[in-house]
Amino acid sequence: MKERLQELQSEALEKVERSSTLSDLQEIRVAYLGKKGPITEVLRGMGKLSKEERPVIGDLANKVREAITAELDRKKTILEKKALEKKLEHETIDVTLPGRPVQVGGPHLLTSIVEEIEDLFIGMGFEIREGPEVETDYYNFEALNLPKGHPARDMQDSFYITEELLLRTHTSPVQARTMGEYQGSKPVKMICPGKVYRRDTDDATHSHQFTQVEGLYVDKNVRMSDLKGVLNRFAKQMFGEDREIRLRPSFFPFTEPSVEMDISCKVCSGVGCSVCKGTGWIEILGGGMVHPRVLELAGYDPKIYNGFAFGMGPERIAMLKYGVDDIRHFYTNDIRFLKQYHKA
Ligand code: DAH
Repeated sequence: MKERLQELQSEALEKVERSSTLSDLQEIRVAYLGKKGPITEVLRGMGKLSKEERPVIGDLANKVREAITAELDRKKTILEKKALEKKLEHETIDVTLPGRPVQVGGPHLLTSIVEEIEDLFIGMGFEIREGPEVETDYYNFEALNLPKGHPARDMQDSFYITEELLLRTHTSPVQARTMGEYQGSKPVKMICPGKVYRRDTDDATHSHQFTQVEGLYVDKNVRMSDLKGVLNRFAKQMFGEDREIRLRPSFFPFTEPSVEMDISCKVCSGVGCSVCKGTGWIEILGGGMVHPRVLELAGYDPKIYNGFAFGMGPERIAMLKYGVDDIRHFYTNDIRFLKQYHKA
């Protein structure tokens, strides 16, 4: 029995030594020390031993049990430490690795241009107004001296929703809306930026949806020279103090007289190049003195009040200012294009 116990001890200790996982250890523990294990079995057979032998074997059995337990515990601590080390090694953070770059967004070029235009006109005392993109035929055309059947309506192929409703083709209806709201009670000095829609086929210079900024100044004794002064300030601040402007006669149903404004070409300084098509000038907006009929329809007495109005396209302004060659760049949202215009 003694030999059997010693044999079991060395067998168990050897297995513990060879074990490499915590579950191996658990198996050894169950196999040798469990209720059905060989040591328990030896102890059960003690009844058959002599009185003298019993305490000796009992004592030895306990020692063997203790030795195996101690060894199991020792190995367990080692394996647990190893497991922890391995885990930590796996989870180590290398603080010297370069970080992943954070993508920072910024305002769209058109948003920046519109804000720049707004700031500029706010500086000259204009207020910012808004109007609906789904507009009535009345405000989009009739209130602007474009009655039904007027030939100038052909200039703007429109997206009609019903006979009387359409996507506005320009921001000019906001002139009529603002004056209509004030009903001749006070002067108007406003600009209105917003989206407009036309049934154009998209190409490098046309888009079915684009942006306009409308301007309107109505008061007593407004003169054409006031229009010229405001637009001159605008052009110089937007494109550079060295730029000249010129006004050419034109036609719009809602202004009389009407003008188109050109700025001197920055590329060739007026000498003539491909950008200005050899003329030295680039057209940037339309305007004029508000037609008496438009004032009258909105509740302003044209014998007391007069004013000027203008309309411009921020896409065109951005294209000229930054040399953008295709209006579609504004809407296709290629991040490589947009990123160039993010201000730090
Ligand atoms: N509404 C015109 C357009 O879309 C632009 C315009 C021209 C607006 C002359 C005006 C103006 O207020 O006076 O082409």
